[in-house]
Amino acid sequence: MNSKDNTLASRREFMKVAGGVAAASTLTGLSMPAVHAAGSDLIQVALVGCGGRGSGAAVNALSTTSGPIKLVAMADAFPDRLDSSFKGLSGAVGAKMDVPEDRRFIGWDAYKKAMDCLKPGDVVILTTPPAFRWVHFTYAIEKRLNVFMEKPVTVDGPTSKRMLGLAEQATAKNLKVGVGLMSRHARPLQELHERIQNGELGEIILMRGYRMHGPVGFFESPPKPDNISDLDYQIRRFHSFLWASGGNYSDFYIHIIDHLSWMKNSWPVKAQALGGRHYRGLSIDQNLDTYSVEYTFGDGTKFLFGGRCMNGATGIYSSYIHGTKGFAVASRANDCGGPSAIYKGQEINPANVLWQSKDFSNPYQNEWDELVQAIRDNKPYNEVKRGVEASVVTSMGRMAAHTGVEVTFDQMLNSGHEFAPGLDKLTKDTPAPLQPNAQGRYPVPQPGIITNREY
Ligand SMILES: NC(=O)c1ccc[n+]([C@@H]2O[C@H](COP(=O)([O-])OP(=O)(O)OC[C@H]3O[C@@H](n4cnc5c(N)ncnc54)[C@H](O)[C@@H]3O)[C@@H](O)[C@H]2O)c1
Repeated sequence: MNSKDNTLASRREFMKVAGGVAAASTLTGLSMPAVHAAGSDLIQVALVGCGGRGSGAAVNALSTTSGPIKLVAMADAFPDRLDSSFKGLSGAVGAKMDVPEDRRFIGWDAYKKAMDCLKPGDVVILTTPPAFRWVHFTYAIEKRLNVFMEKPVTVDGPTSKRMLGLAEQATAKNLKVGVGLMSRHARPLQELHERIQNGELGEIILMRGYRMHGPVGFFESPPKPDNISDLDYQIRRFHSFLWASGGNYSDFYIHIIDHLSWMKNSWPVKAQALGGRHYRGLSIDQNLDTYSVEYTFGDGTKFLFGGRCMNGATGIYSSYIHGTKGFAVASRANDCGGPSAIYKGQEINPANVLWQSKDFSNPYQNEWDELVQAIRDNKPYNEVKRGVEASVVTSMGRMAAHTGVEVTFDQMLNSGHEFAPGLDKLTKDTPAPLQPNAQGRYPVPQPGIITNREY
């Protein structure tokens, strides 16, 4: 099918669906009908943010088996990113792609053009840096699209509140929205959670999470070369800049913070933290090398998180739960890698294993299988509120380290510092949200000196 045919088909489909809205509403009294009938309808997918994760998410989407599904549009800020994603996807899942050149969009308004190729009930994948999440989600809701969005979904207080409002709008429109906190779809963690609910660990006394390894991603950034704008540089190297990503703290650490909070069935209410910036050399990023955060839950239980990006230091990347009746490994390696296990005593001792998970299915695929099934079955499915809460708890630990003062969940959510206002009006001439000083360096956190905002 060429793109024109597809556009026409989409319009016809839209009219059919739009007609269906009226009919279904009249007959059932429901505000919104099922847009995709079980298993039969083609679900069209658009990818906004064609980087590493976006391309991976597209493969997961196209690997769902509950009915026909096709990638029909792609959007990215930069042509090289879109091209390499297009080539990679064509090799991996080309049979399920119909993305001719005129449905590959570049620039700051590319997201709109890609979503305009879809009909209500289709799915858009939002995998740009998180700063743009609320902008793209707003348009997806307007277009009545189902959404898969990556974590973190917010990096500051004002956009978190905005996203909570958008989450409600999405539910009111019967849209299905998945958030890429894939721990929640990892079978070992699901089983561990159930076993903790059943009392197998007793009361939780303490939780510990670690992500400590050498510098990865864009944790560090050399001085900006002259041949690129500040805006483009900051977006391309988003882990280096707090407005774009929440820094390495939000981007790297949210998974373990999310799944340990889930095991406790609540969110920490406050955090205090230490952090240091030791070996930064010429790097102009805003991150700290080390983060040590003490999260406190409403009942006083502590969760200690350690994050470090440093070569030569011991690497640990896993999470643990201590209970009155025993000890659990939640993620044995990486963000949510199994097997999870429960032990007698308070340490890993193979002689004392009480339970060990056996499922090794891919949580990134599980989250897509479940989202697409919910779309086809028209079952309620919206992970955004939980995604915002996980993002706020993560930001709370980060802000505590960056300011050197205790930060509560409510303070984080109600903080007035929007890192990058106006991202919905971005053009190529918009000044970057962060401006360098005369030496080409950007502001870094100064704990104890700047205490009411992070920089
Ligand atoms: N769940 C996970 O395990 C996991 C893993 C990796 C990344 N992620 C998340 O996925 C998101 C993307 O990360 P990544 O590693 O794929 O980064 P990436 O840099 O590889 O991809 C991001 C893409 O978005 C594009 N982009 C930036 N701003 C845009 C805009 N306004 N409009 C259109 N395109 C834009 C970039 O050019 C780039 O191609 C982040 O939020 C990250 O935290 C999640």
